[in-house]
Amino acid sequence: MSAAPIERRGPIAVVRLDNPPVNGLGAAVRAGLEAAFNDLLADSDVSAIVIAGAGRMFSAGADIKEFGKTPPTNVPNLPELIDWLEASIKPVVAAIHGVAAGGGLELALGCHYRIAAPKTRVGLPEVTLGILPGAGGTQRLPRVAGVEAALDLIVSGRLVSEREALKLGMIDAIADGDLIDAAVAKAIELADVGENPRRSSTLSDGLTEAQANPGLFDAFRKSMEKRARGMNAPYACVRCIEAATRLPFAEGRRFEHEEFKALVTAVEARAMRHAFFAEREVSKIPDVPDSTPTQPIESAGVIGCGTMGGGIAMVFANAGIPVTIVESDEGALDNGLTKIRANYQATVDKGRMSQQAMDERMASITGATDFAAIADADIVVEAVFEEMAVKQQVFRSLDGICQPDVVLATNTSTLDVDTIAAATGRPESVIGTHFFSPANVMRLLEVVRGAKSSPQTIATAMGLSKTLGKVGVLVGVCDGFVGNRMLHQYLREAAFLVEEGALPQDVDRVIFEFGFPMGPFAMSDLAGNDVGWRIRKAQAAERPSNQRYSGTLADRICERGRFGQKTGAGWYRYKDGRTPLPDPDIEALILATSQELGMSRRVISDQEILERCLYPLVNEGAKILDEGIALRASDVDVVWMQGYGFPRYRGGPMFWADTVGLDVIAAAMRRFQAEHGDWMAPAPLLERLADEGTGFKDL
Ligand code: 3HC
Ligand code: NAI
Repeated sequence: MSAAPIERRGPIAVVRLDNPPVNGLGAAVRAGLEAAFNDLLADSDVSAIVIAGAGRMFSAGADIKEFGKTPPTNVPNLPELIDWLEASIKPVVAAIHGVAAGGGLELALGCHYRIAAPKTRVGLPEVTLGILPGAGGTQRLPRVAGVEAALDLIVSGRLVSEREALKLGMIDAIADGDLIDAAVAKAIELADVGENPRRSSTLSDGLTEAQANPGLFDAFRKSMEKRARGMNAPYACVRCIEAATRLPFAEGRRFEHEEFKALVTAVEARAMRHAFFAEREVSKIPDVPDSTPTQPIESAGVIGCGTMGGGIAMVFANAGIPVTIVESDEGALDNGLTKIRANYQATVDKGRMSQQAMDERMASITGATDFAAIADADIVVEAVFEEMAVKQQVFRSLDGICQPDVVLATNTSTLDVDTIAAATGRPESVIGTHFFSPANVMRLLEVVRGAKSSPQTIATAMGLSKTLGKVGVLVGVCDGFVGNRMLHQYLREAAFLVEEGALPQDVDRVIFEFGFPMGPFAMSDLAGNDVGWRIRKAQAAERPSNQRYSGTLADRICERGRFGQKTGAGWYRYKDGRTPLPDPDIEALILATSQELGMSRRVISDQEILERCLYPLVNEGAKILDEGIALRASDVDVVWMQGYGFPRYRGGPMFWADTVGLDVIAAAMRRFQAEHGDWMAPAPLLERLADEGTGFKDL
């Protein structure tokens, strides 16, 4: 917005924020607003002003791309601009539609009255970017909506509907007709009253309860420990809201500004901005432009109703897409449908879904034992046993039955998508959709591009991932795709560390403290140790005898029937079914196994544990990039943040590696190679970038 477009409605001026796609409040917009207000405040024909958004929304807040750059000196920054607008003697009404987020809502809070259209969402999501609302939000929101609501909204970053916003006092009214008409009518009314406009910064009712009970801040800090672990921004948000209850507005604003400045250039904020843009970048595929036609998906088929098929069917039902599941017989079908029903029922019992919503979803899931039932589906996702012959047979049948434009997707996690596609006469319609378990919960979807997958098939699968509420990342065909291929490196080194001297709880603690939700051994116990055991047994014949084997301990644990949480014991024993406890029996087994393998156990430092687990993972990521299996380093980061719990405030493994320094990682890999073996050799791309002194971000 070079100049804010202004429309006159009698004595009222309507100023539009106009900076597509989200009306970010960048320097040009701020300059435009300043110029418009200078004119309007001086214009005696104008008695009040309405600020509205052009296009899809009011405003998504500050322009995130400007963070870390030197701002132009001749343009007011956002907090100054909002203070100045609030000080206006002419009433200013915010007419909000779509979204008012971050600085967008802060701007509205600086206005003297707020009216929203139906289906509007408002909130202060800055914390999700590793920062805090730095344009007065931490000072005005508690004054307007109360401290408790401000703590909840600012620390969670969640957006609320216009109805909730009205209840909380964040907005004053919901327009029941045309938003601008309603805002203009209100502006005329306020101008006619002729009193000093109501300014959020001068309100105090919202603060009194907390002022009388300052202990509530410590209680709140305690309650957020788990979700804020490892991060600074959530705590800074609380400090600022606390300051609002202690300091006059102007001082509180200065306090907020200092806290904001400390956060915005730190690694946490850089990592979370990287995550924000990375998650939007994934949908951009150089040879599949936005204009690529897609197949509308109005109905789906799922083959197999086991662990994954059942979850995938729920994903379609949850997105309002009717789905037909085909199983091999009535018994397996009944079993699968019963599990789906139980899954929904558990959500209803926890109060997270209404019975009606559950009934609607169950009604959109149909079971069948004949492939003919899915002849008209727009997409079919195969989730049968992980055996090539079974999958090929399924795809041959699908080829014979399905309509021509269908997308044929496989959920395979280890098999070659191209070999599966070759069973059909239409490999261009075949693609991998690698859902993560539990499919109805995990947001990651690896979309596996076969050698012959057509642009239309790719574009449809990527578009569908959004419809399904997933983050789709396009990957190429290789063993394990992106996520599991890198995971393999990490799990292998974790196992070796335990053979060499660490205990599972040592490794898990280091990884947990790094920021993952749990370490590799607790994760294996959760997922079921038998899954890997079965794969290792199936691959035993192909295992090279001259290579160090990482499954010795895991095999022995499984031989004892310790499959993990589901059997009450695995790498740990379990209290209350879920809390892992170190187990002396396992420690004895580990010591005996190390001795048998000829290892003299040594003390292993936390730093070595971290480096041995994470550097090989990054190294594999470099190979994946070199081979073109992932399009961008940031795509690899998205896979790990969404699929494996890599801490978002570290930005994913490749972003984190850049912050460590690739020269450091390459040198460590060379050392590991010399000490342990060639499987630790640094990837050529890692070596090259380290030599150049650049990073994955420069690719
Ligand atoms: N700054 C710069 N670019 C932004 C942006 C912002 N605040 N918000 C969105 N964008 C860009 C996206 O990167 C994307 O670009 P692309 O098309 O090139 O990929 C485009 O706008 C569209 O965004 P989405 O795909 O996310 O659009 P949706 O319609 O799905 O979602 C939204 C809309 C809910 C507003 C979502 O964009 C969003 O959450 N935006 C960020 C909101 C936010 O965090 N605001 C706080 C900013 S920090 C701040 O205000 C500091 C202040 O306190 C001082
Ligand atoms: P599962 O064993 O739980 O379910 C497979 C289902 O397919 C069974 O219910 C079986 O009766 C059915 N089935 C077998 N042949 C069939 C046929 N010809 N027609 C119709 N139905 C048939 O297996 P799971 O775990 O659900 O795995 C399915 C696929 O998903 C596999 O390819 C697996 O590699 C992949 N995968 C599994 C993940 C997991 O964590 N379990 C994660 C990601 C992918």
